[in-house]
Amino acid sequence: MLFNDKNLSTGKLSFLSAIIIGIVAMLVGALMHLHILQLLWLSLVTWAAAFAIIRYVMEKFLYRKIKLIYKLIYQTKATPQEEFFQSHVLPKPTLEEVQHDVELWASQQRNELEVLRKNEKFRKEFLMNLSHELKTPIFAIQGYIHTLLDGAIEDAEVNRTFLKNAAKNIDRLCRLIDDVDEISRLESGEIQLNKEAFVIQDLIKDVFDLLSLKAAQKNIQFYLKKGCETPVTVYADKERIREVLINLIDNSIKYGKRDGHTFASVYNTDEQHVLIEISDDGIGIAEEHLTRVFERFYRTDKARSRDAGGTGLGLAIVKHIIEAHGQTIHVRSKPDIGSTFGFTLELFRE
Ligand SMILES: Nc1ncnc2c1ncn2[C@@H]1O[C@H](COP(=O)(O)OP(=O)(O)O)[C@@H](O)[C@H]1O
Ligand SMILES: [Mg+2]
Repeated sequence: MLFNDKNLSTGKLSFLSAIIIGIVAMLVGALMHLHILQLLWLSLVTWAAAFAIIRYVMEKFLYRKIKLIYKLIYQTKATPQEEFFQSHVLPKPTLEEVQHDVELWASQQRNELEVLRKNEKFRKEFLMNLSHELKTPIFAIQGYIHTLLDGAIEDAEVNRTFLKNAAKNIDRLCRLIDDVDEISRLESGEIQLNKEAFVIQDLIKDVFDLLSLKAAQKNIQFYLKKGCETPVTVYADKERIREVLINLIDNSIKYGKRDGHTFASVYNTDEQHVLIEISDDGIGIAEEHLTRVFERFYRTDKARSRDAGGTGLGLAIVKHIIEAHGQTIHVRSKPDIGSTFGFTLELFRE
């Protein structure tokens, strides 16, 4: 233990060095034919002096520097009590330990930088995507308005159509801004959840009613899966979960086939969780897109999503809401067979 050179503290190091010097002194004394008692005294005094000096020098120079390093890397200020505790009670770190601490600190710094860099990339991409998304409707509106002003307004054949198209693009712009506003508020953590107990099947039926007109346009039927009728009470932010269901069921219509079906199912997975699934028999999602559909602005088919009035932010918002509840969301899908989006919620217990 004493000679384990990896973990020598300055105390031990000074002790050992002093012994060597003591022995040297003894040898010199022996060469000078000193008496044995004198020899012992000489080596003892030399050892003690050497020990004191070496130790003092080490403390003074080495530990001052080390303390400085710790001060730099931890950036905290110790109270006088802590300072006393650190310098008098705690065992002094060995140089190995210092090296380990510094390496740990360096890797923490690297990770922090990595996260910052990633966020920065995220932000840049978001801005780029956003300006791209804004451009399309704005340029369209600009085109229609200028064409109208340049004379088309007198042309009874086109004037209404152009105005309608401009209005459609303005609506799209508004949806986009609403979604961007929502997602940035979700991301800044500004939104507080108002959790309450409610029956999830009732909320699903509400959303089915809300979207029934839209579904009828494609002759899509809504169902609550057989065996899922027993009312299940969940504890969650009802309005946010309504938003989630609207997004998922709306997608099942938009990316569903004419004469298709949308199923909702509710399962008790364990004493604490409920799994809610929205399934369709629509166009499905190819495997290479599956992991990315929850990303902001990600769509498998931009033109199709746009024609259907999508902003590409729906699933990103949905994921944020579910994660804010401390729950998870996932997707299973196969092209031409259909998709299933499932998320968990907390079961309400009296
Ligand atoms: N039920 C579904 N069936 C097939 N594809 C889907 C479904 N839901 C989502 N997607 C794909 O995921 C993309 C992202 O969905 P979302 O974020 O809701 O954006 P949006 O609906 O505005 O296009 C969609 O553009 C679509 O490509
Ligand atoms: Mg959507």
